[in-house]
Amino acid sequence: MKKIAYIASECVPFIKTGGLADVVGTLPKMFDKKEYDVRIIMPNYQCIPEKFKDKMRYISHFQMDIGDHSQYVGIMYMEYEGVPVYFIDNEYYFSGPTPYTEDHWDIERFCYFSKAALSILPVIGFKPDILHCHDWQAGMIPVYLKTLFAGNPFFGNIRSIMTIHNLRFQGRWSVDHLKYCTGLPDYLFTPDKLELHKDASMLKGGLVYADVITTVSNTYAYEIQTPYYGEGLDGLLQARNQSLCGIVNGIDYDEYNPEKDSFLSRKYSKKNFKKNKVLNKLALQKELGLPVDKEQFVIGIISRLTDQKGLDLIDAVMNDICQDGVQFVVLGTGDPKYEDMFRYYQGIHPAKVSANIYFSNELSHKMYGGCDAILVPSRFEPCGLTQLMALRYGSLPIVRETGGLKDTVDPYNEYEQTGTGFSFANYDPKELLQTINYAKEVFYNQKKNWESMQLRAMNMDYSWNTSAKEYEDLYQR
Ligand code: GLC
Repeated sequence: MKKIAYIASECVPFIKTGGLADVVGTLPKMFDKKEYDVRIIMPNYQCIPEKFKDKMRYISHFQMDIGDHSQYVGIMYMEYEGVPVYFIDNEYYFSGPTPYTEDHWDIERFCYFSKAALSILPVIGFKPDILHCHDWQAGMIPVYLKTLFAGNPFFGNIRSIMTIHNLRFQGRWSVDHLKYCTGLPDYLFTPDKLELHKDASMLKGGLVYADVITTVSNTYAYEIQTPYYGEGLDGLLQARNQSLCGIVNGIDYDEYNPEKDSFLSRKYSKKNFKKNKVLNKLALQKELGLPVDKEQFVIGIISRLTDQKGLDLIDAVMNDICQDGVQFVVLGTGDPKYEDMFRYYQGIHPAKVSANIYFSNELSHKMYGGCDAILVPSRFEPCGLTQLMALRYGSLPIVRETGGLKDTVDPYNEYEQTGTGFSFANYDPKELLQTINYAKEVFYNQKKNWESMQLRAMNMDYSWNTSAKEYEDLYQR
């Protein structure tokens, strides 16, 4: 029996701001319970919905020294869909309406969380073989494990994996602040360890001290070893190249299933999508107040609205995109400049653009069901999940060839009749526009080919099956 602790700052269904939560909440369910005891450790945010809080059970509490102070650590517990979940409880750090606040304070909060996550292990009597740490919020765990906790026999032989979901976010602040928050000694704050260009980076600590590093696609594993994508860590990642691998994410095939999706106004399968999928388009148009017309080419974006996502490319050509025969539906929140940008385009093209500046799981499902294409033109994309959901629903992805987008979307080849979507290489608005126009042309003038491509998309398997096997191989090693 292999014992593994997943340590992360978000996890569906409790709290989610991005794809990290989907991965942490779904992957642990995929392992065979007879061979793997996988448990999750996350913060007990005040903003976790009541319906989950009601099911939590108090286990224990203690005081923990960190830096020059001592803090309360409470342990709450529940089993969710067969997976044990431990919540680190501390009102001082985890109250407030959102899981993240501002960097300076978040760094202190997640230094505390990292140390607490290790400290609860003897208390709950769980000695993992592997600590599987996700993103910068868990970055200090491999560091603590190999330093402060190294002398403690309980922690002997525990291995660590650091998974990068996004290298841009590192938990980076001044060396002094990190020393204060972690209570770690001076010798760790050098350029070969936690220091990064005079600051300190929590993720870097994880990448230096973890036994193995993974990221969420092969292409991203390669890209982050180059200066353009490396966020200042490309040298380190090159040096650790032998311990670095890419395992592409999957999605929850029960949650995302057009045959069973109760949010859809008409469910559909590989057999009847040609007839039934379009009914979801009509329902979507009606719900969003767009002209109801099955002939429209409906493009969707479901995304955090941040610089990562390539939205400035869209801005540059939006008026060209909004030509006859196209409707554009956006769902998501983020940087006010992009939120306003989509509101603005809705204002000038009210019959073409629907800007939904909030997050709704329900509307996202209706969009996967009702759109013809899903657009993901990211500047960088470690894996990307929306294109996988799009494939599952036969809504063809239009993507930039970066990270997981490149690994999961096979561009349409008209001559060989292969492909599951459309893609472009350079971060260039003209290429984006050409690719959208090409997709539109295929949609209107090669109906049969479009439908064959939808079927190929729906036949792809991006459930967790294959990727969970790769994680199992890694755990066994
Ligand atoms: C982050 C990345 C995204 C990835 C997700 C889950 O949100 O930006 O590309 O799919 O993590 O790994």
